[in-house]
This record gives sequence, structure tokens and C-alpha cells, in this order.
Amino acid sequence: MHSKKNYYLTTPIYYPSGDPHIGHCYTTLACDVVARYKRMQGFDVMFLTGTDEHGQKIEKKALEKGVTPKEYVDVYVSNFKRLWARLGITYDRFIRTTDDYHVESVQKIFKQLYDKGYIYKGEYKGQYCTPCESFWTESQVVDGKCPDCGREVVEAREEAYFFRLSDFSERLEKLLTDPEKGFLEPQSRVNEMVNNFIKPGLEDLCVSRTSFSWGIPVTFDEKHVVYVWIDALSNYITALGYMNKSFSDYDKYWPADIHVMAKEIIRFHSMIWPAMLMALDLPLPKKIYGHGWITFSGTKMGKSTGNVVDPFILADRYGVDALRYHLLREMLFGMDCPFTNEMMLNRINSDLANDLGNLVSRTVAMVTKYFGGTLPEARESKPEDDELIRMTAVLKPFVEENYESFHISAAIT
Ligand code: ME8
Ligand code: MG
Repeated sequence: MHSKKNYYLTTPIYYPSGDPHIGHCYTTLACDVVARYKRMQGFDVMFLTGTDEHGQKIEKKALEKGVTPKEYVDVYVSNFKRLWARLGITYDRFIRTTDDYHVESVQKIFKQLYDKGYIYKGEYKGQYCTPCESFWTESQVVDGKCPDCGREVVEAREEAYFFRLSDFSERLEKLLTDPEKGFLEPQSRVNEMVNNFIKPGLEDLCVSRTSFSWGIPVTFDEKHVVYVWIDALSNYITALGYMNKSFSDYDKYWPADIHVMAKEIIRFHSMIWPAMLMALDLPLPKKIYGHGWITFSGTKMGKSTGNVVDPFILADRYGVDALRYHLLREMLFGMDCPFTNEMMLNRINSDLANDLGNLVSRTVAMVTKYFGGTLPEARESKPEDDELIRMTAVLKPFVEENYESFHISAAIT
């Protein structure tokens, strides 16, 4: 039907509860590079990014500021968009979870899951980390603190709807451990998911709340709002027009080729998301890719820790290309990577100014000196050219393979 091959890739939708930092840049830049690469190869690409705007945390912050939640997020959403423009990000679509079409679709998805018996009403009691918007079981909480951000958790109890995640244990384990599929990259994360979450027994997931109102209302029980993950994860299909008439790209692009994110949200993407899709009888994404963290002074750079580096300042000081290059070159597949100004300067000086700069300058000088400034037509190769020709031939598939698998640093090298 379509003459071009399609390629659909996504970043997480970021929380607009603060300004974007270079952690958000890394994921978005990595996707941008691969999107550009795929377009260059002739693919019809859909590159999706956006913002995840509901939840208790944003409601609270807005209240503190004396503005509505929507007014609150509008400011940060525009900062995200301004940053992506500044960094030359070529996304095709930007979804906001407050967009009408998304709200409408999520309500339908929630109702459908309820009608099929995958969502039921119960009571929730658990340890809740407000900044992370995550419930944790007793065994996951570390000394009364959130295992992700290390801050105090509180006990929460309320009437809530639940999603029968436990029904999907077997199918999820099969999906994650199937070596043919390679569903989750890096592979090292698979054991963690299986041993820490599936083997101890998946618990049903709390998918609605009544204690705050900044969320998508449950149509058949209005005091409930849809609780974050069903709202957030659905974006990957609502943005294509699933259950709404704003877009008609679902058939063309779904299933996604890859969902890209950092490791702290792999568990939601590799278990809740496929379970939701299985419950809806929809095809699963082909791959979940979770990269490491950019760290600063030894801990994850993040809004909640406050140790963030402002990408606008870096872009102004060093240039957009240098910033793009540095982040993508420095961050190795699956590993954490510290950020320091010194490392960035060294990278720019050694790789860009010294190696690449010198190569260009010497090449241009020789073309000027030996050929009067114009490259002549290629002549028949001589034996001493063989090695260079061989290297070039080997390099192409190697680079392609590395872009394909998001080993961007290796492709650059
Ligand atoms: O988790 N290093 O949003 P979020 C590398 N709304 N990447 C980083 C990073 C760091 N230090 N900090 C952030 C959410 N990121 C949810 C997602 S998706 C359906 C819902 C990047 O604003 C990385 O991609 O906390 C990480 O997974 C994401 O930002 C988290 O963004
Ligand atoms: Mg986060």
C-alpha cells in the first residue's frame, strides 16, 4: 500500500513541572539523530515527543504558585518546545496529554479496558512517592524512602480502580525473555525486570485516584481521574489517532519501531504498556530501549535533585552542534555518564577542533597546493589505496548497524 517503508520512534513524554535539562536533551537528541538517519535512508518517519501534564505533583506546584495547573504547565511546555527548536530537533508531532483528542482517547481506552473486565474497582493502600508519582510495595521501599529518588514515601489508601496486570505475568515473561524478539534493550535489563517484578508476582496496578482532580476524568465514575501511567503510555497511540479523529496515522505507523527512554521508566514501558496493549488486543511495539543516566556529581541529573545543567546556556556558549556532538559521543550504550564542563571542553577541543578541524584544514590545503583548489576526477586506484577502500566498504554497514541499534557513540566513532 505504502511505497515507502515506515519508521515510528518516540521519546518519553516529559513532565512539564520544571525546565528541561540536558538529561531530556540526550534522549531527544538520540531520537533526532536516528530519525534523520532513517529519513536519509528513505523511510517515512514519524518522530513523536511531547509532555505528560497531569498528576498530583503538578496540581500541587500550581496551587503553590497560585495559578491553574494548565497555566502552570503551559509555561514549561513552551520552554520544552523552544529548546527543541534551539537544538534543531526534527520531531514530526508533539503531543500534550491535555490535548482534547488525547483526553477523549484515554477515556475510551479506560472504558474499553473496564468493559473487557481488565479494570475493576478496589481499595488502594500503599507507599506513595509524590514527586515520582509512583506507588511502591513495602519490599521496594528503602528505609521508608523512595527507591528512585530517596525521598520520604507516605502511606496512601483510597477507593481506586485497578488494572489486572497480574493476569499478564506469563505472557510478559515470555515476551521479555524471547531472545529472537530482543524486545528490551539492553538485554541486561531483562533479568532485572523478570527477577525483581515478574517472579515475585506482579501486583495489579492502581489506575485511578480520587484524592486530586488534575487528571482525565473516568467517564463512568466522575470522582475518579485516570492515574498517570494509563494516561501517559497511551500517548504513543493516541498521537497517531487511535480512538480519535484528529489523526489517521495509526494503521500506517503502529506498532512503533522503538520507544526510547532512560532506565528508570523501563519497568512501566516493558510491563504495563505491553499488558495494556495485550488487553486491548493491539500489536506490541517492536522494541523498548532504555539508556543510562547523565549524572552530575555522582547522582542522576534530575529536577527532583536539582543538580541540573541548562542546555540553553551550553548551546549559547559552545554552539548547538558541539553540544549535540558531545552528548551523543560521550554517552555509551546502556551506561551512565557524568557531565562536566571540562569533559565537554576536552571533547570539543580534541575531537572537533583538533582531529576533525585539522583533517579538514590539511585536506583543503593539499587540494589547494596540489590541484589548484579543485578536486580532479577519481583515477584508477593504486595498490596503496586498497586499505582505504577496504576500510570504507566495511565502515558503511557497521555505521548503519550502530544507528539501527541506537549505539550512536559507536556510529560516531
Ligand atoms: O518519566 N539522564 O517524565 P520525566 C538521561 N512523564 N536521561 C534523562 C535524565 C538523565 N539524568 N533525566 C531525564 C517521565 N531524562 C514520564 C514519562 S512516558 C509515557 C512518561 C530523560 O520528565 C529520559 O528519557 O521524568 C527519562 O526517561 C525521561 O527524561 C524522564 O522524563
Ligand atoms: Mg523522572
